[in-house]
Amino acid sequence: MDYLAQIDKKKTPVHVAIIMDGNGRWAKKQGHERLYGHNFGVESVREVLKASTDLGIKYLTLYAFSTENWNRPKEEVDGLMDLLVRSIANEIDELMSSDVRLLTIGDTEGLPASCQAELKSAMAKTENNKTINLVLALNYSSRWEITNALKQISRKVSSGEIKEADVNDQLISDHLTTKGIPDPELIIRTSGEHRLSNFLLWQAAYSEFYFCEVLWPDFKREDLFKAVLDYQSRERRFGMVSEQLT
Ligand code: IPE
Ligand code: IPE
Ligand code: MG
Repeated sequence: MDYLAQIDKKKTPVHVAIIMDGNGRWAKKQGHERLYGHNFGVESVREVLKASTDLGIKYLTLYAFSTENWNRPKEEVDGLMDLLVRSIANEIDELMSSDVRLLTIGDTEGLPASCQAELKSAMAKTENNKTINLVLALNYSSRWEITNALKQISRKVSSGEIKEADVNDQLISDHLTTKGIPDPELIIRTSGEHRLSNFLLWQAAYSEFYFCEVLWPDFKREDLFKAVLDYQSRERRFGMVSEQLT
């Protein structure tokens, strides 16, 4: 089936976020260590970024490492950090030629110094690229992000910089690490798991969810198109009734 041909380019989501899950199970199925799956997952990232660009998606957010992922065996955590550094170094030329701007969300100060340095340099280099924003969620957790926003806001209220009455949806959004990034219309999770795992809890208030059985290293161009097509078949009511939406 040619999914791409059926997609209405005028109704493409601006922001798609993906919980890339299933690398470990993919590797295990073929008798390999978990890191083997993470390595192959990078190929899916490359392909999905390209497919997103072709669709005209402006923000692609990828959940790459959660705050809870530090609890994995040290060997896996070290391997993931090393993979992050190597992948950015390998891909930087491609990001430049494809006009991709790299951004991060999450507590990146908690990442190893080598990762921070590689990210900082890639973000500076791609700063003026405009075709698509690739947002990597690294050492990210929604509860961390919301707690952090609450601390910043309460400090500002205490010091008199803002009044309690100024606290609203927009102000809270502006204190999250996703500040300036529109909320995702579509959130995809691969590998058959049906949960958010501490991802974009605030931003997902009106997101459409798409779950599929495909393990992340097997998730390719057509799988993204299938998800976007499914998204386009939904009626987003935002609390209203169908008749009001015309
Ligand atoms: C997702 O794949 C990648 C990260 C969380 C870094 P997993 O490593 O969670 O793979 P499974 O879920 O164990 O198969
Ligand atoms: C969520 O996947 C985090 C990322 C994809 C980076 P996990 O595999 O860590 O989630 P749980 O533990 O199954 O909920
Ligand atoms: Mg997992």
